[in-house]
Amino acid sequence: MQEPEPFEPEAARRAAGGAESSRANRGWWDRNADEYQTEHGAFLGDDRFVWGPEGLDEAEAELLGPSEDLTGRDVLEIGAGAAQCARWLAAQGARPVALDLSHRQLQHALRIGGAFPLVQADAGALPFRDASFDLACSAYGALPFVADPVLVLREVRRVLRPGGRFVFSVTHPVRWAFPDEPGSEGLSVSGSYFDRTPYVEQDERGRAVYVEHHRTLGDRVRDIVASGFRLVDLVEPEWPAWNTTEWGGWSPLRGSLIPGTAIFVCERD
Ligand SMILES: C[S@@+](CC[C@H](N)C(=O)[O-])C[C@H]1O[C@@H](n2cnc3c(N)ncnc32)[C@H](O)[C@@H]1O
Repeated sequence: MQEPEPFEPEAARRAAGGAESSRANRGWWDRNADEYQTEHGAFLGDDRFVWGPEGLDEAEAELLGPSEDLTGRDVLEIGAGAAQCARWLAAQGARPVALDLSHRQLQHALRIGGAFPLVQADAGALPFRDASFDLACSAYGALPFVADPVLVLREVRRVLRPGGRFVFSVTHPVRWAFPDEPGSEGLSVSGSYFDRTPYVEQDERGRAVYVEHHRTLGDRVRDIVASGFRLVDLVEPEWPAWNTTEWGGWSPLRGSLIPGTAIFVCERD
């Protein structure tokens, strides 16, 4: 049973460094993992690989490469949550490792089960030797939440073998300019797309309890290049007719008009 928040966090826009963001988000995901899995577990599926609220499925998208080529591949999932994607990868014959910052999220991974390692760590300091993996992936894990995305991207590149691929999804940067609401109120620009000031929820003493960091599309491309990756594709999934599920600010209404997710496909030469 999840404890209720002892306070009502205040939403603010202010600077937040790497350590503060990591501490805040670990606590937030530990406190909110139960609710998150209750609310979204059925949509995610225990062993599906869904890239975001649009429901784009890796089984069809094959952004990590053809499914039949996953057999025997060492794959790192970053910000794995309950490790639904890692479970799908294991079913394809891959050897996944599921990493997350939140102990409680990984307890949900244990609850669902799977014969692969679970690792609690920060994506900015991956506890693996250089060139340990053939592939890495992250469905909304870590990258939207870190103050220094280049640090994470360099870490991922370090643990990948030459020729390896890293595919990650984040909230589409254009959403930053709109209210995070699923209805028509979420369709009017309310802030600057170019304002990189983090979104911070803080307690009564001003300590961050949740942090999201914004990068423009151009920032993301520059981060990827600066970390030594080659960007090979940028996928903006369109909202499919079959998907009637609202997920926070993601909805069929907004999804039919503006992109909600950006998926970056990167390669390490
Ligand atoms: C939106 S959830 C995505 C989880 C899963 N991919 C899914 O689709 O449900 C974000 C996850 O990223 C994790 N996370 C946040 N910051 C992280 C960091 N710095 N390092 C590793 N994981 C992090 C959170 O604990 C959370 O489980």
